[in-house]
Amino acid sequence: MDDPERFRGFMARCASGVVVVTTRVDDGDHAMTANSFTSVSLDPPLVLFCVQRDSRFHAAISRSDRWVVNLLSAQQAAAARWFAERGRPLASQMEVVEYHRDPEGIALLSGSIGHLTCTTEAVYPGGDHSIVVGRVTQIDRDEFGAEPLVYLDHRLGAP
Ligand SMILES: Cc1cc2nc3c(=O)[nH]c(=O)nc-3n(C[C@H](O)[C@H](O)[C@H](O)COP(=O)(O)O)c2cc1C
Repeated sequence: MDDPERFRGFMARCASGVVVVTTRVDDGDHAMTANSFTSVSLDPPLVLFCVQRDSRFHAAISRSDRWVVNLLSAQQAAAARWFAERGRPLASQMEVVEYHRDPEGIALLSGSIGHLTCTTEAVYPGGDHSIVVGRVTQIDRDEFGAEPLVYLDHRLGAP
């Protein structure tokens, strides 16, 4: 199988939820939109997301073993686009969204369905990505009844 476009086209038909993973390194905020997020294990509670090896977020998550998964609602498509934009200014990236901070200072996007706080359990190689497995240490349900943001056919929207 050596046809990346055929592969991309197939995966585009796989509907997924959308998260923004946030963390903090040296007093700086890091964030990345991801649709590779899923659960791994119930006992212990483990989740994973995949991060492209040549992204700035890869460098950040390599230096921080504590991070937050913000599960996005359908109202947060603009935030999903923003935290997927390559080359956005890192230092001021939080200024365009509403957020608050957890006790460790990690940004929590306001209006999210909820947040999972995680510590890195393992990182595995996965081609041009790394597979980051996290242990869930806290679950916060914010707008828990809100419609989720869904990614399908390269589009972000309500289900
Ligand atoms: C809906 C959507 C889902 C994405 N999912 C992932 C993902 O799971 N893993 C990943 O590495 N990049 C994913 N991306 C791309 C990253 O968000 C984007 O490349 C990254 O924020 C920019 O890299 P930077 O950390 O260097 O700024 C996704 C983009 C979109 C729009």
